Amino acid sequence: MKKNITVIEGDGIGPEIIKQAIKILNAIGKKFHHDFLYRKALAGSIAIEKIGTPMPIKTIDDCLIADAVLFGAVGDPKYENYPFGMRPEDGLLKLRKEMDLFCNIRPIVTYSQINKSPIKKEKLKGINFIIYRELTSGIYFGKKGRSLNKEEAYDYCFYSKKEIERIGRMAFQAARFRKKKITLVDKANVLETSRLWREIINKMSFLYSDIHVDFLYVDNAAMQIILNPKKFDIILTDNMFGDILSDLSSVLTSSLGLLPSASIGNKKSLFEPIHGSYPQGVGKNIANPIGSILSVSMMLEYFGMYKEKILIEKAVKNSIEKKICTPDILEYKNKSSSTEEVGDYIANYIKNY
Ligand code: IPM
Ligand code: MN
Repeated sequence: MKKNITVIEGDGIGPEIIKQAIKILNAIGKKFHHDFLYRKALAGSIAIEKIGTPMPIKTIDDCLIADAVLFGAVGDPKYENYPFGMRPEDGLLKLRKEMDLFCNIRPIVTYSQINKSPIKKEKLKGINFIIYRELTSGIYFGKKGRSLNKEEAYDYCFYSKKEIERIGRMAFQAARFRKKKITLVDKANVLETSRLWREIINKMSFLYSDIHVDFLYVDNAAMQIILNPKKFDIILTDNMFGDILSDLSSVLTSSLGLLPSASIGNKKSLFEPIHGSYPQGVGKNIANPIGSILSVSMMLEYFGMYKEKILIEKAVKNSIEKKICTPDILEYKNKSSSTEEVGDYIANYIKNY
């Protein structure tokens, strides 16, 4: 197969981890005779510096014509106080909106060889759930502003039936291939948007009568994710709660650096690790490339390349078993490997498999 992939390295450690992700794609391409063609595009602070906006129109166009987008990270403390629309993160939000990537899928899986979570070991074994996070609406995209004297501010949270139904369908369909269980996480005891979510997901559950649906308030869900993580299979939630719960869930896995994500629209899709640009780690060759490597495996699954996806997962697992790991997931007594070394090991595993 031939696939055109637009690659956005972005800021901070973005270029370092994307380099490893591409190494893996090339190894897969060679082994399975696929042609992956890359086109690089700018976003984030590097785009602000070169073009004056965190999301140039050219980048959006390049993403819209691609078969998929591979994304590194955006964010730079230098721009923290820039006005709304001009920060590196705004570039990513704009791209999600322009590509209509409404469904963000974030798998949370633990590996028994990694023990750097502060949570008790016996609670961690065999955790495997997925967060389905709505990605193009809610409080992230509602009207926002300040009063004239700047002493009052607001962020408006909006959801429509259509927006909830479309991600609802994705979650219900996915549940059929998993444990047939969805937990809707909301704050329906306080928020009207949450009540709408409950109403709609509840109605949809009659169409998918084979799927068990339960409902949990987000404050309780945050507690349950830590106390009782194995009770979850698919967590369906809005944009803001999904953002918060995914970082929280990463504590179970030991490192945010391990977690991939897929952002899916009706026609377009983007794949990116969950972590940010990790400015403190730039240039040190210590960033964990597994989040972006597993994002590549989610991309291949999206292309229908299942054998390829499974091989990447196997290679990643093997690198962890052999303790070829960056410091974030390795106990101090072991010698850690660099970003580059982890990428090389996984690529070689694929090559020699
Ligand atoms: C994420 C990130 C983004 C978000 C930021 C960078 C805008 O935290 O993908 O989880 O809040 O969605
Ligand atoms: Mn986040």
